[in-house]
Amino acid sequence: MDQSCTPLLQALQSSSRRDHAGFYTPGHKRGRGSPQALLQVFGRAVLQADLPELPELDDLFAPDGVIAEAQALAAGAFGADQTWFLTNGSTCGVTAAILAVCNPGDQLILPRNCHRSAISGLILSGAMPIFVEPEVETGLAYCVSPARVRQALERYPRAKAVMITSPTYEGVCGEVDAIATLTHNHGIPLLIDEAHGPHFAFHSDLPPSALSLGADLVVQSTHKVLGAMTQAAMLHTQGARISSQRINQSLQWVQSTSPSYLLLASLDAARQQMVLQGNQIMGQLLQRVDATRQQLQQISGLSILSPSSSTAGFATLDTTRLTVGVSPLGLNGLRVDQILHEQLAVTAELPTPSHLTFIPSLGTTQTDLNQLVQALKKIAQKPGGAEQPAPSIWERAIISMPQISPRAAAFSAQETVPWTEAADRISAELVCPYPPGIPVLYPGSTIMETDLDYLRQIKAAGGNITGCTDPELQTLRVVQL
Ligand SMILES: Cc1ncc(COP(=O)(O)O)c(C=O)c1O
Repeated sequence: MDQSCTPLLQALQSSSRRDHAGFYTPGHKRGRGSPQALLQVFGRAVLQADLPELPELDDLFAPDGVIAEAQALAAGAFGADQTWFLTNGSTCGVTAAILAVCNPGDQLILPRNCHRSAISGLILSGAMPIFVEPEVETGLAYCVSPARVRQALERYPRAKAVMITSPTYEGVCGEVDAIATLTHNHGIPLLIDEAHGPHFAFHSDLPPSALSLGADLVVQSTHKVLGAMTQAAMLHTQGARISSQRINQSLQWVQSTSPSYLLLASLDAARQQMVLQGNQIMGQLLQRVDATRQQLQQISGLSILSPSSSTAGFATLDTTRLTVGVSPLGLNGLRVDQILHEQLAVTAELPTPSHLTFIPSLGTTQTDLNQLVQALKKIAQKPGGAEQPAPSIWERAIISMPQISPRAAAFSAQETVPWTEAADRISAELVCPYPPGIPVLYPGSTIMETDLDYLRQIKAAGGNITGCTDPELQTLRVVQL
């Protein structure tokens, strides 16, 4: 395979330039009918390449031409047997992965700090979650440990698969190899939400990729860290534990029948870029971020997530990520985020009450990193007072199964109750600070006082809470008694 080729991007470029009378969607007809305002912002080339599934451009759901070629090249580059391009982010990949391994009523072992797309998979499939609590340190939820996965497998031996998130948003990677061995000894597949790790295969100083550690199915947000456009992602499989036919079917349930070729072609280009230059790009990025981490460690009052931890659930850290704790300064991370964005021209990826996570990636310059250091120095000069204890919701039972399935709760007879009367009821809705998109409540979860306190604190600090019917959080939808 010639990894310097970009078959899909090239076909799209030729197609966009072919002189012909086209009587097909989209309505703007290669930009000719596009609003001027849009043309000015996007430029003609982008709109000219916004094409549908023309004969020469293959078909995402039955590929045998340029999409098949581009996907095969991606499989080779990322270390998979088979790769599917996704146009609805890892969100549709995670949901489809669950639909591909679970039938209604099947049990799935997964971390309680899973992304909300996993809850969609549970609702759509009718599977029953066996939740495993993540390991926690200084308010940060890491991955689930092999010991906890073993406990879950012993208690629920009929589970159909294990799904874990590795790395976490903060770049913390779990012991994927040990969990793969456990899972495979049990005769079931291991699925990995590696949304934040598409770059791992391209430098030896990055954590090993989940595929290289034996995972059967891996979902990656190519757009989050590499050069693909927003929403462009990939699902990879290896070995014989996952049915390709089930993946094909599931992806058709959760993706548009008009996938964007702009997104698809950007995946082809992102793969080529990483194969040709990834090692050099990542090497330089790692060096710059390491130097930045050292500078941040000198700033008194900040706690910087470092690559070494003896906590289970923390095997390695993706050191291209920067996570900065601000609780020792007596500041709330959501407030720091606001100051950074509005006054200091620095914008973080993920603010939480206790930490901020920044994503340096292949487009980050040394100037950006310098600006971050200067901005955080200014923040640290004005501490807020006594250290704030980080609010935590990770105090549940280590292994838990809801009283009713997420699907049963989502489609149950429901009622609205005042927030103050919601504790101990079963949630009918998903309530989720975004980012990180980790649900505090999900349909089927028993509502705990700590959940309500945590959500209240996020809301009071100006955080964004999604999924709930009442955005003011005065009421909650619960399963009728
Ligand atoms: C762990 C995790 N999984 C899945 C997703 C969904 O990814 P996407 O934005 O590509 O749909 C996210 C998004 O933030 C995530 O953090």
